Amino acid sequence: MRRPLIVGNWKLHCTVVEAIALADSIRVAVGDPGPREVVIAPPFTAIYAVRGVVCGTPIGLAAQDAHWEERGAFTGAISPGLLHDVGCRYAILGHSERREHFAENDAVIARKLRAVLAAGLAPILCVGERASEREQGRAQAVVAGQLASALAGLSPEALPGTSIAYEPVWAIGTGMAATAQDASAMADAIRRQLAATWGDAAASVRILYGGSVSPANAGEFLGRQSLDGALVGGASLNAHGFAAIVKAAP
Ligand code: 13P
Repeated sequence: MRRPLIVGNWKLHCTVVEAIALADSIRVAVGDPGPREVVIAPPFTAIYAVRGVVCGTPIGLAAQDAHWEERGAFTGAISPGLLHDVGCRYAILGHSERREHFAENDAVIARKLRAVLAAGLAPILCVGERASEREQGRAQAVVAGQLASALAGLSPEALPGTSIAYEPVWAIGTGMAATAQDASAMADAIRRQLAATWGDAAASVRILYGGSVSPANAGEFLGRQSLDGALVGGASLNAHGFAAIVKAAP
């Protein structure tokens, strides 16, 4: 049984004071999440403070990115070990905003994924096609390529701890979510691809949908058997909206 996973990606939002207040409101609004796993990803600067709020609660912490090396001359970088030390259990990797604004390619993402696993964090690997790629009928091929390069050579033991977030680029922050049907068709394709390489281990990988998930549409995605959760951007900055999305998961 795959436990539903709802992740709030706060992106570049929240001072420390704002992050503490938002995390506390989410803690109260979510209450007992039951079988669902709830994770928030504040900006790096607020993680330690937010840890104080969520420690001992069912809410977990994710980083929005992680570097591929543990230590050394990498000015500005944050390593998976430091993120583990500060209380993170997950790291979002390969987000399309990292790919676009920070020139992250598949090779970089693959290195980060291995480093994250080595530090004992669970990667949430983001994949997704651009609008033009979908129009050309290449959505599945693009996602398959991203998946294959990020996960190449991964051991079957490492795979189940990894989650995949299907986030079509055109659906992020636009209010134009994918249809639940298209999202679950992509999730099925992803699981088939994982199963072709890793066999039974693929069955425990959680596949999330992200891109304009809201309290209004969350039920459509989370009600699909092929989707095990959601990666939520904008709507995760509102405690009640985010809690409503959590509760929409089975
Ligand atoms: P929105 O929910 O704001 O569309 O963002 C999705 C996302 O990028 C989550 O990582």
